[in-house]
Amino acid sequence: MSQITVIYGSTTGTTQSAAMLIAGNLKARCVDIASASAEDFQAPVLILGTSTWGFGELQDDWLAKLPLLESAELSNTKTAFFGFGDQFGFADTFCDGIALLCEAALAKGAVLIGKTSTEGYAHSASRAEKDGEFCGLLLDDSNQPELTENRIKAWTEQLLKEIA
Ligand SMILES: Cc1cc2nc3c(=O)[nH]c(=O)nc-3n(C[C@H](O)[C@H](O)[C@H](O)COP(=O)(O)O)c2cc1C
Repeated sequence: MSQITVIYGSTTGTTQSAAMLIAGNLKARCVDIASASAEDFQAPVLILGTSTWGFGELQDDWLAKLPLLESAELSNTKTAFFGFGDQFGFADTFCDGIALLCEAALAKGAVLIGKTSTEGYAHSASRAEKDGEFCGLLLDDSNQPELTENRIKAWTEQLLKEIA
């Protein structure tokens, strides 16, 4: 079994497509949170992805399965986060769902990898932004679809270095 597991939640398929691309680049397992079990969280490296819904809420399947993350033992688990939002339509809650996953994982001892620069985004607030950086890869196919592929490529290269 691959040591890297990507677990994603996606309502209209955007985060799912990115999850598959990321998993392909990292030669990782790719699991829909809707069908995930506690064992899926037992990997040395976890990549967790979600879109943001409501106003700054987690994607529905993640919301239903959040107890799996909250009860996982993640000490020494290198963990990265990604997801989609809409920086103009939801400028004050841009990709907040990613931060919700990140906060839950850090509370369980996860070791954060995959932070990114906020350069190139026009949101006004995001819970995923801390000390001038994002806690993961924030993607926006509503406004910047042309940037998604390269952002994923650069991020997965960064992750491979941080995992090594
Ligand atoms: C009703 C609704 C609420 C949304 N709320 C937010 C939000 O609070 N923050 C954000 O960044 N994006 C928000 N979005 C944008 C979605 O996250 C975005 O469309 C995303 O690409 C959906 O990905 P998925 O198909 O993987 O679920 C919202 C979209 C809709 C339709």
